[in-house]
Amino acid sequence: MKIILWATLTANGNYAQSSPEHPPKAEAQNDFVAQATAAGNFIIGRRTFEAAQASGGGDFGNLDIVVLSASGKEIPGVKVAHSPREALDYLREKGYAAALLSGGADLHNAFFAQGLVDEIIFNVAPVLEGKGLNLLLNQEHYQYKDVQLLECKSLGGGVVQLHYAVNIA
Ligand SMILES: NC(=O)c1ccc[n+]([C@@H]2O[C@H](COP(=O)([O-])OP(=O)(O)OC[C@H]3O[C@@H](n4cnc5c(N)ncnc54)[C@H](OP(=O)(O)O)[C@@H]3O)[C@@H](O)[C@H]2O)c1
Repeated sequence: MKIILWATLTANGNYAQSSPEHPPKAEAQNDFVAQATAAGNFIIGRRTFEAAQASGGGDFGNLDIVVLSASGKEIPGVKVAHSPREALDYLREKGYAAALLSGGADLHNAFFAQGLVDEIIFNVAPVLEGKGLNLLLNQEHYQYKDVQLLECKSLGGGVVQLHYAVNIA
């Protein structure tokens, strides 16, 4: 099963944050729906999931949603996984060809730290941000890794999509 990290970055390279005042760009949001629909699932951090629910988002029809939460409270209608590997095992057992990692930053960094990312889809939004969040291969040590650009395209509205392969043979 291919593990695909999907994230929006700001034009100055931060991991983009959204809020009611600064919602995600429609083109990036539509792309997320398309990627999640293609995968049939997505894995989401507990904080991002709760924020999406609070803002009235989160109607994803028949998609399999896995919420990552160490505390492990049950949430009606979704699978709660206690670790990245448990989330992936759940989707693998259901026969999915791909798992989509939808964020937020803690979730993405947890999968990076365990080497559990095969491809990355970055949508670079035409915004600049002050102090922000970062995607980190490793939270403690310096690391450097080449990735392979698979595709680069415009999604419209100034959003540019970069698609990379991570585990190059
Ligand atoms: N740029 C983008 O594409 C994008 C996408 C989504 C969200 N965001 C932004 O990201 C921010 C929210 O992200 P966040 O980093 O605060 O939270 P998050 O990643 O959505 O959720 C964090 C929670 O996930 C659980 N978790 C994380 N790592 C885990 C692990 N290894 N094992 C088990 N559970 C784990 C923990 O839940 P428990 O506390 O329940 O244990 C943790 O508190 C917001 O600013 C939002 O706007 C950006």
